[in-house]
Amino acid sequence: MKVAVLGAAGGIGQALALLLKLNLPKGTDLALYDIAPVTPGVAVDISHIPTAVNAQGFAGEDPTPALQGADVVLISAGVARKPGMDRSDLFNINAGIIRNLVGKCADVCPGACIGVITNPVNTTVAIAAEVLKNAGVYDKRRLFGVTTLDVIRSETFIAEAKGLQPDEVKINVVGGHSGVTILPLLSQVEGVSFSDDEIASLTDRIQNAGTEVVEAKAGGGSATLSMAQAACRFGTAVVRALQGEQGVVECAYVEGNGEHSRFFAQPVLLGSNGVEEVQAYGELSAFEQQAVAGMMDTLIGDINKGEAFVNG
Ligand code: NAD
Ligand code: LMR
Repeated sequence: MKVAVLGAAGGIGQALALLLKLNLPKGTDLALYDIAPVTPGVAVDISHIPTAVNAQGFAGEDPTPALQGADVVLISAGVARKPGMDRSDLFNINAGIIRNLVGKCADVCPGACIGVITNPVNTTVAIAAEVLKNAGVYDKRRLFGVTTLDVIRSETFIAEAKGLQPDEVKINVVGGHSGVTILPLLSQVEGVSFSDDEIASLTDRIQNAGTEVVEAKAGGGSATLSMAQAACRFGTAVVRALQGEQGVVECAYVEGNGEHSRFFAQPVLLGSNGVEEVQAYGELSAFEQQAVAGMMDTLIGDINKGEAFVNG
């Protein structure tokens, strides 16, 4: 197995590289790529950690050596928010970065599972899909928007609110990855019940948790360390499933059955080809049904913007 991280010298990328070095299965190759010249040094640095994961780093304009033979590609290349910005404000710079990097994936590792972290995820995943489609290599089972940060935040905030251990909390977060498109399915959390006020305030906190970090970092960027943990959880889940582990389920923003929109975050069973099955996420409460209805214009608009960016 080979995992490539694109954007590996950044705030997410370096922490993700460290976590993957510690958590990927023995024998995995880990390729780090970034335009920043420090990237080979990041690989040398983590290569001194005694785990059986072989790290190599590549810098410069061409990600090809990092992508050769890659089974999983995690992309966090691009710019991050500053206070006062929406994720959609990142589109002008990040759309072109994703188009170019995913174009390289289409050429060099067309069968790889690609996890897009770069914002705005609702849109960058649509860009990636169209690039792969135009190159004739799109397989919807192998393209994911990484929304795991919304899941780990939900687990943490619910545990805090209810006095539980965070690892006891299991929750699906559906929709997309910005504001109202993030919907934690609180009605389905086993063994806990919430008042209407708790549902409203927890949902609002989870939807705006990215902004909470952006404001706390006061111009120093957005979530990096929690995101790295989320991407490590997602990336290692994909690797374990590719290697044959059964029953690996994570929420991700994927092209499913199109019930709501072309891409929708929902629980997916992972397998040896990427998405094995897009799972049903059960019955929604009246609050959640209304929230899904209320997010659709935004989500569909975000997806259309990505498709139009590639196809004109
Ligand atoms: P950062 O600025 O710290 O790092 C970005 C890195 O990308 C830099 O090292 C930069 O050199 C590199 N880069 C830029 N263009 C590149 C290219 N063409 N090829 C390779 N590398 C390139 O930013 P960060 O905090 O790591 O955030 C990265 C992205 O992840 C942002 O768009 C941010 O909004 C997004 N993000 C997403 C989530 C999520 O839940 N999906 C969470 C947090 C952040
Ligand atoms: C997050 O949810 O923390 C990320 O999407 C980064 C951001 O800009 O909020």
